[in-house]
Amino acid sequence: MKKQQDASDPKNGTEERFSKTGFILAAIGSSVGLGNMWKFPYITGKHGGAAFFLLFIVCLIIVGLPVLLAEMVIGRGGRGNASTSFYNLTGKKVWAAFGLFAVLTAFMIMSYYAVVAGWTLHYTVQSLTGLLFEPGADYKSKFLDFAGSYTPLFWQAVVTVVCGSVLAKGVSGGIEKFNKILIPGFLIILIVLMFRALTLPGASEGVAFFLKPDFSKLDAESALIALGHAFFSLSLGMGCMLTYGSYVDKRQSLGSATLAIGFGDLVYALIAGLVIFPTVFSFGLEPGEGVGLAFMALPAAFSKMYLGSVFGGLFFALLAIAALTSAVSILEVPVAFAMERWGWSRSKSSVYVSAVCFLVGIPSALSVGGVLGGFTPGGKSIFDWVDFVTAYIAMPFGGLVVTLFTGYAWKKAGEEAGLSGFWYKAWMIALRFVAPVLILLIFLYSVGLLKV
Ligand code: PHE
Repeated sequence: MKKQQDASDPKNGTEERFSKTGFILAAIGSSVGLGNMWKFPYITGKHGGAAFFLLFIVCLIIVGLPVLLAEMVIGRGGRGNASTSFYNLTGKKVWAAFGLFAVLTAFMIMSYYAVVAGWTLHYTVQSLTGLLFEPGADYKSKFLDFAGSYTPLFWQAVVTVVCGSVLAKGVSGGIEKFNKILIPGFLIILIVLMFRALTLPGASEGVAFFLKPDFSKLDAESALIALGHAFFSLSLGMGCMLTYGSYVDKRQSLGSATLAIGFGDLVYALIAGLVIFPTVFSFGLEPGEGVGLAFMALPAAFSKMYLGSVFGGLFFALLAIAALTSAVSILEVPVAFAMERWGWSRSKSSVYVSAVCFLVGIPSALSVGGVLGGFTPGGKSIFDWVDFVTAYIAMPFGGLVVTLFTGYAWKKAGEEAGLSGFWYKAWMIALRFVAPVLILLIFLYSVGLLKV
């Protein structure tokens, strides 16, 4: 196979760069996460099936892809981290301060994302060893017992060490290699599981729940949910795609990359739904989302399936891959920042940032039924607070900064994106008007200030 030699800018031979496919796979790895696996299928099923799916595609096109492209061009144009890139392009400190906020957001997200990623690893091992499945077991209390113990700390540490080691190996030797192996592997396992799921008795009921179009269910609320999810699913608003963009070769077309990443994200979400619902419905279980679906409903289904521990193990391995390839991209944001800010080597930065992130995540790990579970200021556990503040407040804010920066402050965005004429105009309309207004609406809706 021909090795991609065009990976580095001729002028900057020493700087870290992705290869073309390496970048696309790494960005897909970031965007395909737990959101695709346990959130998207459920919200689709609940809000009108294929009708919602179409709405989601529209949201992806009018908000998701323009902001994704904007983040990547800021990174590649600025050639810095999620804070300095803004400064490099305008010379204005205030933008660097906004960028710093994104770095902090990523750090906080990683602190609890590592906990959830750890749960998926524990379940993979438990499933493959058969320990998870007992006839007549109550999978809800099984999960709560596990999450409330100290074992999650061990798995959180494993996740931190894996991500830290990948990042320490650098952009092409670490991040790119990791995703090049895992993302195609992911697709293969997903397709195997899809065939298994679709051939279960009663599978069609699950497919119908997921995809049967029901346009009467589309309303303002489903539109806001679709928008919010398009944003989250593409890993926007916290500097991930910006930081990855800073390692992209100047000759790579970011417009085509944007389309490839959006398409990849959709395909993985679609197949995930075709795995989950046929499985859940075939065993007469209630579909749901998030923790309840992955750690309570699905284990019950796998326990009743022939070779269930193998299929269950494969399913949790998928969740683990989805979570790990996203986690790597999240942790890279503060790692890249620390390298530049304090002049640390990549390995030093990876070790220090991972270690501190692990410590900061401990309270989250222990607050899901653990020793800190009873501490719920304002009705939310520490885990829920970190999730709420980062996903609902900090990420929309970060997204707003990106749209306003590219739409108004930085005049040369079109050149860096390689857009002119119609496409440039359309992109600018999206960034100046459509995206900021819609992001603001998602924000107001998710913090409860806007009722629809
Ligand atoms: N896009 C990921 C998902 O769909 C989540 C994520 C958000 C990853 C932000 C990185 C940054 O689950």
